[in-house]
Amino acid sequence: MSARKGLILAGGTGSRLWPITQGLSKQLMPIYDKPMIYYPLSVLMLSGIREIAIITTPQDQHQFQQLLGDGSQWGVDITWLVQPTPDGLAQAYLIAEEFLAGGPSAMVLGDNIFFGHGLPELLAAADAQPDGATVFGYRVADPQRYGVVGMDADDRVTEIIEKPEVPPSNYAVTGLYFLDGTAPDRARDIKPSARGELEIVTLLESYLADGSLTVERMGRGYAWLDTGTHGSLLDAGNFVRTLQSRQGMQTGCPEEIAHGLGWIDDAALMDLATRYAKTDYGAYLKGLLDS
Ligand code: G1P
Repeated sequence: MSARKGLILAGGTGSRLWPITQGLSKQLMPIYDKPMIYYPLSVLMLSGIREIAIITTPQDQHQFQQLLGDGSQWGVDITWLVQPTPDGLAQAYLIAEEFLAGGPSAMVLGDNIFFGHGLPELLAAADAQPDGATVFGYRVADPQRYGVVGMDADDRVTEIIEKPEVPPSNYAVTGLYFLDGTAPDRARDIKPSARGELEIVTLLESYLADGSLTVERMGRGYAWLDTGTHGSLLDAGNFVRTLQSRQGMQTGCPEEIAHGLGWIDDAALMDLATRYAKTDYGAYLKGLLDS
């Protein structure tokens, strides 16, 4: 188990998805057969993190609570926090300062989906770094849409820029951040950007300036999927469907991860399987007990 606490930032409404998100949080919409937030939650669980704060807008909190409850069904402990207005990703560290209590954290954005062989090992390596910041660089065709890292010939990060017009590389910074206990203090020193937000890249720049920013590459064997547009939302669903049908295994399944880690016992898994008895998902959970 990790000493880190987890944060999931599930604020905002996904404005580019309007009107399908009207009155509905984007992160609760399905990616194929399960709610979007299951995928980032699974990443934190795979990191061995059991204490997790979920940050939502005040109006959306109830919907998330109805879905996830206190997390005990999966052996995790969920704390509920709110971000009243979408003032930037780095603000999460101010909102969660008390929850983090000076300790290290892993934050994942509620709409980021990760898949890849070796992901648990990559997460474990990041978790094992007590000091500094670890983020993940992923090659994309359209880096202008993301935070982007510039690197020198030895792969050392030289700069990190939010949505650059002329990207210094094709490596986007994914929405998964392993930061040490200094993150809230650093976030307090940040000035809002031109778009009026406390930018995560400004927070990461402060680690870069100290020489304590590590960028791990997520190689071509990984999928990092975006759900920001109607097309990418559908692509993510199709990706999950293709993988799951081919392999007969779930991706982003909190019940399976909790059971595999020994956080819930067979009886608890059976209860959850029964809850979804009429679905393939329920049959899959039951199958985990049979195998
Ligand atoms: C945010 C971050 C950006 C990061 C991206 C990952 O962008 O600001 O650095 O690359 O998440 O999903 P936004 O979703 O706010 O456009």
